[in-house]
Amino acid sequence: MIPAMTETETTNEMVTGPVDLLAKFDPIIQTRETLLAAGVEDPFNLVMEQVLSPTRAICNGRDTILLGTYNYMGMTFDPDVIEAGKQAMEDFGAGTTGSRVLNGTFRDHRDVETALREFYAMDHAMVFSTGYQANLGIISTLAGKGDYIILDIDSHASIYDGCAMGKAEVVPFRHNDVEALEKRLKRIPDGAGKLVVLEGVYSMMGDVAPLKEMVRVSKENGAMVLVDEAHSMGFIGEHGRGVAEEQGVLDDVDFIIGTFSKSVGTVGGFCVSNHPKFEVLRLVCRPYVFTAALPPSVMASSATSIRKLMHGGNKRAHLWENSRRLHGGLTALGFKLGTETPQSAIIAVIMPDLERGAMMWEALLKEGLYVNLARPPATPAGMTLLRCSLCAEHSSEQVETILGMFERAGKAIGII
Ligand SMILES: Cc1ncc(COP(=O)(O)O)c(C=O)c1O
Repeated sequence: MIPAMTETETTNEMVTGPVDLLAKFDPIIQTRETLLAAGVEDPFNLVMEQVLSPTRAICNGRDTILLGTYNYMGMTFDPDVIEAGKQAMEDFGAGTTGSRVLNGTFRDHRDVETALREFYAMDHAMVFSTGYQANLGIISTLAGKGDYIILDIDSHASIYDGCAMGKAEVVPFRHNDVEALEKRLKRIPDGAGKLVVLEGVYSMMGDVAPLKEMVRVSKENGAMVLVDEAHSMGFIGEHGRGVAEEQGVLDDVDFIIGTFSKSVGTVGGFCVSNHPKFEVLRLVCRPYVFTAALPPSVMASSATSIRKLMHGGNKRAHLWENSRRLHGGLTALGFKLGTETPQSAIIAVIMPDLERGAMMWEALLKEGLYVNLARPPATPAGMTLLRCSLCAEHSSEQVETILGMFERAGKAIGII
């Protein structure tokens, strides 16, 4: 029997109240308030009031060059991509109101999976509602309790969350270190399931993985390999298939993960593979089954974009030119960059600390330039970065203008 409460006990309970579950975030609230009290604009609350093109928007009332989007190939305003979306919205309505395995697979979901199979020349493609869900779903479904996931320590949050959801044993290794990967692989018990998870381009520093060696070492040690090509699809490799294509190991990778929210210019995530049993994943992968399918307009736009990216050789060449020009220019100005050479469309400018990083970010915004302010836990080694992501639609003149903005802001804040 539950003993009756005395009057005092009841009162105490009411005074104490529940434990505030948000209290653990007090240090983050404090850091943000200190930053804003210094008078800087909030770097995490920017509103694009009007988007004029893949490279220009009106932000906080200013005409601004965009150098902090993932719109690498500039497909967001491609007339064919927009037209395909409009037509599908008229033909199929605004949304699916259902899961892919029930009422949520429309003509264009099938078509975008066909476009992906063509793009990668692979047997199977499965589309998710975001890239985050693709990693969450595929990793957690492939590797469960008793299996091992060996991953680069700088892996994206969606990869770590996929590992946590599947409850496999997680074995991290030092960033881009082939020897460290090999050592970890050799320590795993014989007969255990092993999945090595890598990224083509690491999104914070913009550096590329030595996939050729890593895939070889993984295969020699009996592991399956998954590569997240979120930041390389569309741009890197002769056909834009990513770093695995560029380094000649696409056929040895078991699963490629990607997203539509970067080079494709829409939203959605995917996995492609040649594994003969791949289709079973549609029935057992919870982040695929238990969520609504993307609207048909997004699927039609994505399929059109992917097919156009197959013939994007000229755009890829211009984007490489932009990357080299910006990297060379920033280096000449005296900025410290994340990589010694331009390796991708991402160029990370290393800031001395969060305070000066935020000041520099704001000075650039006032010049009319938007870049990403990136800070821990998203960044490696506690760094504050101004992350620049180039677009194939940036003109050479825009890149020169951007360099002038960096020079003035860098001198004003005392970074160069
Ligand atoms: C490496 C990597 N994987 C996955 C994702 C998630 O993609 P999405 O934005 O489609 O959820 C991102 C997003 O930035 C990423 O950088």
